[in-house]
Amino acid sequence: MREITVAMTDTFISKPYTNFPENGSISAQAPSNIALVKYWGKYGEQLPQNASVSFTLSQCRTETTLHFEKSTPNGNFNFEVFLDGQREKSFEPKIAQFFERIRRYVPFLTEYNFKIETKNTFPHSSGIASSASGMAALAVCLVSLENALLGGDLSTAYKETQENQLRKASFLARLGSGSASRSIEGPLVVWGQHPEIEGSSNLLGVKYPFKVHENFSNYQDTILLVDKGEKQVSSTVGHNLMHNNPYAEARFKEANTNLTKLKTIFEDGNISAFIEIVESEALQLHAMMMASKPYFILMKPNTLEIINRIWKFRKETGSQVCFTLDAGANVHVLYPFSEKDRTQNFITKELAAFCKNGAYIHDACGLGASIVNS
Ligand code: DP6
Repeated sequence: MREITVAMTDTFISKPYTNFPENGSISAQAPSNIALVKYWGKYGEQLPQNASVSFTLSQCRTETTLHFEKSTPNGNFNFEVFLDGQREKSFEPKIAQFFERIRRYVPFLTEYNFKIETKNTFPHSSGIASSASGMAALAVCLVSLENALLGGDLSTAYKETQENQLRKASFLARLGSGSASRSIEGPLVVWGQHPEIEGSSNLLGVKYPFKVHENFSNYQDTILLVDKGEKQVSSTVGHNLMHNNPYAEARFKEANTNLTKLKTIFEDGNISAFIEIVESEALQLHAMMMASKPYFILMKPNTLEIINRIWKFRKETGSQVCFTLDAGANVHVLYPFSEKDRTQNFITKELAAFCKNGAYIHDACGLGASIVNS
């Protein structure tokens, strides 16, 4: 299962390019996603230690425009990154690393000068990771441009319906940020090879291929911004800490077992069983950080207060609201569409008080990345 053969990755090397447009631009949007079974621990070149599954979101998105201009190739990457119209040099090392990882699959990268203009629908300082949506949006731009280089029309180049393009976009996005591989499609995406999920792969995210009960349609996610600003521990550092974590192997096994269980849960529409898995996954992720060396507590007092209030509300009202967490203090409140009004009322009345400046974002499941026509 661990072996990724060269032949598998070779399928993402493009055919020889036939066209080299002088200049132009292409815009794409990609949403963030929230993992239900968490990816935490990787090996090799951005390969996950266990399979994960996420809801693709819709409101929290990155929109990226890739401007390109033919250059005289010298083997180097030439690009600048702008966030909300301002040069953002701090993003450039991560993009340079991304380009380095993908140059074999998109060799045109050294043929052009690029200006990458990006903006998020959520505030940069919100603590919501923009790497998933950002890398996914950039990957879609690159796949579109590649299509034009292969003789296609730039404006209609990327088709969300074309399997090979979706796969390449997710494959590239993964090399930028693992979770970005799950932001190309929606509403439910699996990344990581799992024996019971046909077509699943360590190389890219695939749309969840089985029946999903209508209880999970249009599932809602309100993100409570407990702690804004820089992450206390970057994903890179966090994933690395799993190498020496004594509980790592048990955790990877548990994640795969949880995904197996979710398969039946999605089919039956059993939200109570869903809640047990999703909350346990979030707490296991945090437990891994507490059990790492060095160790970290990523929750804040208000994170715990919110969790306790969600549990109390559920007990007292029979609500099916639950929570999940990323590697930080913010809380994702998950609830079925049928409970939207009463849960949002509960959030406003009881939970908002524990958010920084009362800030939260209502979101819901969505369909993934697409080209933005200007
Ligand atoms: C806690 O995808 O940000 O959100 O591959 O190093 O970029 P890199 O990591 P990243 O890790 C996300 C971890 C997580 C869980 C998840 O989304 O599955």
